Amino acid sequence: MLVFQTKNELKTYLTISNSNAKKIGMVPTMGALHLGHASLVEKAISENDLTVVSIFVNPTQFNNQEDLLKYPSTFEKDSQLLKSISKDIIIFAPSVSEMYSDHVASKKYDFQGLDKVMEGAFREGHFDGVGTIVESLLLTASPDRAYFGEKDFQQLQIIKKLVRLQNIPVAIIGCPILRESNGLAMSSRNERLSKELRKEAGFIYETLKQISEKFSEQSVLAIMEWAKDQFHFHPNLQLEYLQIAEEDTLKPINIKRKNKKYRAFIAVFANGVRLIDNIALN
Ligand code: PAJ
Repeated sequence: MLVFQTKNELKTYLTISNSNAKKIGMVPTMGALHLGHASLVEKAISENDLTVVSIFVNPTQFNNQEDLLKYPSTFEKDSQLLKSISKDIIIFAPSVSEMYSDHVASKKYDFQGLDKVMEGAFREGHFDGVGTIVESLLLTASPDRAYFGEKDFQQLQIIKKLVRLQNIPVAIIGCPILRESNGLAMSSRNERLSKELRKEAGFIYETLKQISEKFSEQSVLAIMEWAKDQFHFHPNLQLEYLQIAEEDTLKPINIKRKNKKYRAFIAVFANGVRLIDNIALN
């Protein structure tokens, strides 16, 4: 398996390999890989000739230094997991100075309001950090397709906007959320939950499913009230936000309109561990 640590090495290799018009798929990650990441990698492999997986814990998207410091670094385990999927995967694992030189700061983007709600409202500057690194990764590898999980649905919509704003010629492919057996969305952060809390956190998806069942029959306000009440029975899961929003604009809604797609979004703190999830409603 090939591992590159500098942009130039990766670019040179891909330029040579791509000389006979091979399709390149890219899966940007921050490592600590789990089966959710693996599902993106498998899709990329099935749709492209070459697959690049980047592993880079991006400092500029962390608004909380403690969260950055606690972020797991498991390169050996990650490369074993990737190797078990395919020996042909190309890993790009740059250092912070390789990606940022000596200026570790975000660019500023106008995501036209997509970054002002939910994750953006609670994590100041987060999406400028995500935009900065994803733009840089896409410009380095020049993939034909790049794969992102619906687990971070707001991020997915922002990256679609980013490539339009910056005219980056790449198809952004959204991939379904992989879940643990109790429905909890897979995440590197789940490892930080106690066994009991990990089990209880299945309640997040239970609630999302019920919101989706109620969506065609009840008003948005009634559903929101019902769902928020449910969390009072689970004081270990502290609701940060619960929102029903339009898929394209991510604007929260009070009234449903025909021909619009909606999703419900939840962010919860479980003993200091922040968990997010979402579900399509129609
Ligand atoms: P990271 O959290 O490592 O996630 C990498 C990709 O895996 C993202 O597109 C994310 O949505 C997807 N993913 C995570 N859990 C998933 C699950 N349970 N099912 C399906 N897909 C899942 O997201 C980031 O890294 C960073 O913000 C990044 C885009 C790499 C920029 O730094």
